[in-house]
Amino acid sequence: MPYTVSPQTETDYWPEYFWLTKQYGDSGKLHELRKSLWGQKGNPSDFFEWFFTVESHLAEFDSSRRATETYKTFVKTVSLLTESQDPYTAKHQKKVAKLAQGIAKAMGLPADMIEGIRVAAMVHDMGKMSLPTEIVTKPGALTPFEVSIIKEHPRRGCEILKGVDFPWPTPETVLQHHERLDGSGYPQGLKGDEIRLEARVLAVADVVEAISGRRAYRPGLGIEAALKEIDKHKGLFYDTDVARACLRSLKGTKTFTADQWEFPK
Ligand SMILES: [Fe+2]
Repeated sequence: MPYTVSPQTETDYWPEYFWLTKQYGDSGKLHELRKSLWGQKGNPSDFFEWFFTVESHLAEFDSSRRATETYKTFVKTVSLLTESQDPYTAKHQKKVAKLAQGIAKAMGLPADMIEGIRVAAMVHDMGKMSLPTEIVTKPGALTPFEVSIIKEHPRRGCEILKGVDFPWPTPETVLQHHERLDGSGYPQGLKGDEIRLEARVLAVADVVEAISGRRAYRPGLGIEAALKEIDKHKGLFYDTDVARACLRSLKGTKTFTADQWEFPK
């Protein structure tokens, strides 16, 4: 005979809710879950049925929360490591992340995809860490051989990232961030829609930061020069919608930094 409860109000379940909160930590997700279950059952009579349903949902939530912690720790560790080895790339990744996030928002993409793009941008050049430092940080122009080595970084990054349980296609996004719509990019020479939308957003943010910001071998050329490049090659190298969102959003902006710059609304 199941343990039955007769309460008609949601508040009668609160002691159990508090117990679950203690187990799993309070969160909006838990609250949402409680509400939706209540809505489904209307007038629940079997407490255990309710309780175990909540528990199984929470166990699922808990494991996805643990996965979230894993990728967050991973991204933080990679950032610190990159900063110590190649501060220029670390700064570049942070600025590209901010910019890519802003472009994705301006395009009206779903919140989860925006977060996925931001995270991919934070680690998009991490493959460079496995290449010879003297080539990656070389202040002068690179020889054709050195360029071919640098072009390995999307593949290297993708290989490393495959070992992490990301809730997004992060390794593939990183692999494709130097692809161009007309197939002239690398490493796979993908064309048009063969390139993931996340990677098309990342590509534009990457180019804007690379042109506008300071490089080891030259001073920054400014945002205007970067936007000229995006405008000139939209539809050819860069996704037209992404390029338009970028041009619209950065109009009138002179400079930006990862910490201080706010994307114009
Ligand atoms: Fe790159």
